[in-house]
Amino acid sequence: MDKLIIEGARKLQGEIRISGAKNAALPLIAATLLAPGWHVIHNVPDLRDTRTILVLLETLGAKWQREGSTLLINTESLNNFEASYDLVKTMRASILVLGPLLARMGKTRVSLPGGCAIGARPIDFHLQGLKIMGATLDLQDGYVTATVKKHLTGGHVYFDVPSVTGTENILMASVLAKGETVIKNAAREPEVGNLIDMLISMGAKIDGKGSDRLIIQGVKKLKPAEITTIPDRIETGTYLIAVGTAGGEATVTNCNPSHLPALTEKLRAAGLIIKESEDSIYVSRPAKVQSIDIKTQPYPGFPTDLQAQLMVLMTLANGLSVITETIFENRFMHVAELKRMGAEIKINGNSAIVKGMDQLTGARVMATDLRASASLVVAALAAHGTTEISRIYHLERGYEDMAGKLQTLGARVRREKE
Ligand code: EPU
Repeated sequence: MDKLIIEGARKLQGEIRISGAKNAALPLIAATLLAPGWHVIHNVPDLRDTRTILVLLETLGAKWQREGSTLLINTESLNNFEASYDLVKTMRASILVLGPLLARMGKTRVSLPGGCAIGARPIDFHLQGLKIMGATLDLQDGYVTATVKKHLTGGHVYFDVPSVTGTENILMASVLAKGETVIKNAAREPEVGNLIDMLISMGAKIDGKGSDRLIIQGVKKLKPAEITTIPDRIETGTYLIAVGTAGGEATVTNCNPSHLPALTEKLRAAGLIIKESEDSIYVSRPAKVQSIDIKTQPYPGFPTDLQAQLMVLMTLANGLSVITETIFENRFMHVAELKRMGAEIKINGNSAIVKGMDQLTGARVMATDLRASASLVVAALAAHGTTEISRIYHLERGYEDMAGKLQTLGARVRREKE
């Protein structure tokens, strides 16, 4: 296992290039299961999670090759319809094969993901939606087996709260269903829009992209796709916050500023200078950061995946900040680690009250999940002294070459074996 050693309190300066979005690439890769043939997906980040879903596709009979950041995937001859516990336990997004496998093969057996570090994260919406579309579900031995007699049929699926992968699974199931499917209270995240673009390029009929009501007319057959993964908005946000916290000025390139409406406004309110162009964002911190309150919400609200990083910015702000997490019930695990670096944070239910102070100090800390780990890196870059972050395999699930990219901004970051 590797650890990151960061010598902090150095201003960050320069340019940093954003990779394709993990949470867009995963459903795009899963969607290749819908149509036999060679699919081409550009701008796919090389991450632990993208490698895991490719292993899963291999176990189903697909073949793939990578040329730079382009993936070529052949799903001509699928010979297995099961996603095993061993894969699902390492990455819950494996559940994304449920909808497309059922649509293409009429049968699938997928391990139930169980709880995870940030919350219970049930998949009842996915299952309920497939049931409405005519699937028979059998839950046994920790697996769900879904079968359908002839083909899935369209239906009205309503989510109590907008679920990102739930919307993606039902979308992928509905494009080959008989008749019309309506998804109400659908997730509006840009990653869902990227999947819709891919499905439409394959011949699917989908209306309502970007809205919370998606209408899908099923078609009999789809053709292989060529699609580009959107830039990673969470990686973008993480580096903007890192510069705001450590100080300095930088331009984050190859990103899509329109995908971060809540973050850029919140960072301006905190006193950072943010200048957006079509595909880059300039950030600098002219003075001490002002405290702001945030509440995580489904898109276009403030993303839960940036809550931990923003909290670090607030540890160095002027005054008190209230950060409320409404998406996941256990997403404050970074708080205990940040306190080891001198942060003053109190948790009250689903809110964290952060008292801004003058400096953080380096310490030995432990990464607990992907975004919590990113927040520790942000804290370490700003902290006085040296921070050692262990268990960085979490970071490698979602950030491509984080140490290398931060070095281009002048950060003193190195990897060492634990
Ligand atoms: N929910 C249910 N039942 C369901 C599905 C969801 O109750 O069947 C609840 C969840 O427990 C949660 C809320 O609905 O309270 C929203 O969860 P959602 O389903 O949207 O989350 P997800 O699809 O499992 C994706 C991202 C997460 C991101 C969330 C929220 C992927 C692969 N994962 O998860 O990303 O935090 O949406 O935006 O797209 C990360 O990248 O670090 C990460 C955790």
